[in-house]
Amino acid sequence: SDNLAFTVVVLGASGDLAKKKTFPALFTLFDKGFLPKDLAIIGYARSALDINDLRKKIKGFLKSKDEAKKDEFVQHITYVQGAYDKSEAFENLQHTLEEREQKSQGGPAGRLYYLALPPSVYPQVCKGLKEGASQLPDIEGSWLRIIIEKPFGMDLESSEDLAEDLNKLFPEEQLYRIDHYLGKELMQNMLVMRFANRFISPCWNNQHIANVQIVFKEPFGTEGRGGYFDEFGIIRDVMQNHLLQVLALVAMEKPVSLGADDIRDEKVKVLRCISPVKGEDSILGQYVSNGKDPGYLDDETTPKGSKTPTFAAVKLHIRNDRWEGVPFILKAGKALNERKVEIRLQMRPTVANLWHEEDPNALRNELVMRIQPDEAIYYKLAIKKPGLEYNPVMSELDLSYKSRFKETYIPDAYERLILDAIRGDQEHFVRRDELRAAWAIFTPLLHAIDDGKLEPVEYKHGSRGPPEADELIRDAGFVRNESY
Ligand code: BG6
Repeated sequence: SDNLAFTVVVLGASGDLAKKKTFPALFTLFDKGFLPKDLAIIGYARSALDINDLRKKIKGFLKSKDEAKKDEFVQHITYVQGAYDKSEAFENLQHTLEEREQKSQGGPAGRLYYLALPPSVYPQVCKGLKEGASQLPDIEGSWLRIIIEKPFGMDLESSEDLAEDLNKLFPEEQLYRIDHYLGKELMQNMLVMRFANRFISPCWNNQHIANVQIVFKEPFGTEGRGGYFDEFGIIRDVMQNHLLQVLALVAMEKPVSLGADDIRDEKVKVLRCISPVKGEDSILGQYVSNGKDPGYLDDETTPKGSKTPTFAAVKLHIRNDRWEGVPFILKAGKALNERKVEIRLQMRPTVANLWHEEDPNALRNELVMRIQPDEAIYYKLAIKKPGLEYNPVMSELDLSYKSRFKETYIPDAYERLILDAIRGDQEHFVRRDELRAAWAIFTPLLHAIDDGKLEPVEYKHGSRGPPEADELIRDAGFVRNESY
């Protein structure tokens, strides 16, 4: 509504997430005119902070050359100091909010609580908010929403405990669980690609697709974040959440409508069709020094002798009519040879290949969606090599976003997701049952790793990862095709 008194409360205002993601995303939305006109931003944290220092610090994290705009933005920020476990502190926050909302034009109030805090304090903070700071003005259209971000627990049970604690205080409709991969441009494109293209939708099944890979590669190691990372490992860090969300969008059935819950219903359904990953369907790795860059155990913050995987490749089976027999490989690793996140669907061979009778695996079509860097969608397909000879070769139909959408701004994931939360659209947020289904897939494997029953193999910093993973992918039927 036009006269919404909108307030974002950033709890954990001086932390890393707030500085690197939350405030910069809010700034871009502000800069582009997407935030409600009647805007207040309240930073909340435990320490005594001088508001001018805080504004200056936040300004330093905003990516723009427009000094005036940045100044204008930080003028909207105020600060409330308060503990996370004291009811007076939340009552004080409520008081500040009431004052601010009373000054508005008599319209409804929208409150977005952004918990830029470790999940261990979510329950107490939500309790504080519920009891102390959740009374909205009695004006129709007023709302309160809470943004939280992973890690949501360590396994199925702890995640359910957390969800239970939070749901006792706030219903799902008010909880916005961020998985920032859902805010990435190519993920947002997935439903359009799949369901608005007659070229694609009829082929999207086990009749035509032979295998699917979802790959996450980062070229750097933990670099001082080892202490944090070691508690989780690569599966909890990116696979159970980001890559499974990607998989859900790739594999789900067509939703009844574009309604957030219709879409999430389909995502849950497909996740529930996946059997828990078995040890024999997984390859775990940990990077070691290549002589130049340090190994995982060389990171001083990594506990000595840690067996935490920094790499994993797993094979999943989706037990439904569409995907029976199609292996889905998820692969993720730190300290690899490149930065890349992509989805790769390899098609079955053509029948009676006229050019390669002896090798039915030659000339295999692939559809690749590169999520980052440089968003792109391309088809690998066979064409006649131009010239007087008559040889088929593999080539590419290439839609590169950089060249096709030159002037188009591609938003950062957080910008889009915060805007969705302001609009009350939960499509790109993870519902509790999705989370549960995702944990169910990995929990037995994670417990086996935690119990020391599975150990990582070594791979060199900056390499492709363990060769065993390439074998797993080859055994799943993937055939490497060089393009012309
Ligand atoms: C985070 C992980 O969720 O995602 C990090 O905790 C990882 O370890 C990051 O680096 C990757 O996000 P992006 O957007 O850089 O691909």
